[in-house]
Amino acid sequence: LFSAVEMAPRDPILGLNEQFNADPNPKKVNLGVGVYFDDNGKLPLLQCVQAAEKAMMEKPAARGYLPIDGIAAYDNAVKALVFGADSNVVQSGRVATVQAIGGTGGLKIGADFLKKLNPSAKVLISDPSWENHRALFTNAGFDVGTYAYYDAATRSVDFDGMLADLRAATPGTIVVLHACCHNPTGYDLTPEQWEQVIPVVKERGLVPFLDMAYQGFGHGIREDGAVIGKFVAAGLNIFVSTSFSKSFSLYGERVGALSVVASDKEETARVLSQLKIVVRTNYSNPPTHGGAVVAAVLNDPELRALWEKELGEMRVRIKAMRQQLVDGLKAAGVQQDMSFITEQIGMFSYSGLSRDQMVRLREEFGVYGTDTGRMCVAALNSKNIGYVCESIARVM
Ligand code: LMR
Repeated sequence: LFSAVEMAPRDPILGLNEQFNADPNPKKVNLGVGVYFDDNGKLPLLQCVQAAEKAMMEKPAARGYLPIDGIAAYDNAVKALVFGADSNVVQSGRVATVQAIGGTGGLKIGADFLKKLNPSAKVLISDPSWENHRALFTNAGFDVGTYAYYDAATRSVDFDGMLADLRAATPGTIVVLHACCHNPTGYDLTPEQWEQVIPVVKERGLVPFLDMAYQGFGHGIREDGAVIGKFVAAGLNIFVSTSFSKSFSLYGERVGALSVVASDKEETARVLSQLKIVVRTNYSNPPTHGGAVVAAVLNDPELRALWEKELGEMRVRIKAMRQQLVDGLKAAGVQQDMSFITEQIGMFSYSGLSRDQMVRLREEFGVYGTDTGRMCVAALNSKNIGYVCESIARVM
């Protein structure tokens, strides 16, 4: 049965973890996967999460099956966070939200639903994009192409190229957009640029699928999520996948969501019924714990404030590490101006290093980033930054 099965390549991101774990180098640093570590190199367990879990343990609850679309209090908290509790779109019942297995799960539910809805649609992702976007939509049965996004020569968004590619897209094309903290480049559209993209999406009849995995890691929770409101205000039907992996440091709980904005309440009910079929036929219904924790935090004013504070601290520390990286590289003798690192936002820096340099970093120094030159600056700390800077300087 399996004699013709080919060995698949390692995952370009999570595969690095396997390699990192097997590396005996005591100085090794993992800047591969997008995970935030604190200044001691530890994965944080947020205080707000601990408080919610403590309260849950004091009143232990049995674990029945959840509804197919997840915990209602969770779904409502997601809607409030992503669209605003008082927003017209939420108040008028035009958002269908399902709890998902992480942001990836949200993307996959949306992809499978879209494939049923419009099997011949094309998908466009940014060039470059998160590696899994292409894999995920390809595996859902779509032809996946790209729209121009990053201009390596000017280290900025190739905005004219992006607009031209969107204008040239066939109506019905699904366009995967990064709501904030573009992965992997760290370069986002400005609010003014979004104002230009949205009419093109609308005029061309494209289907916007916004991936928002890093809300709160750019400029702030509200600022990072603002683009969603712009799409809604334009009267578009949109897909939004969201994740609490990073913003709650709940990576392993796989807690995310898919929200779909439909045209009226009745249409929303039909969309939701279809999303539930996708969930039911994939994994039946979501797990309980992560969603319960997030709902408990978001629905309690004190815990919510604590979360915002803790998320803000992560954001500020990442920004400080960006500056230290720029300074450290200069001190280590790098001639090239690396100040672009502080212009990028979110967890990643697209360093501009070549594949060969990234391989050398890994093999000679135990410093792991992706082959595309992406490094997770959220994993830098005051102890490893010196070594990372020296290592980068050596391969440059
Ligand atoms: C990343 O890009 O490193 C993260 O989104 C983690 C993942 O699932 O790839």
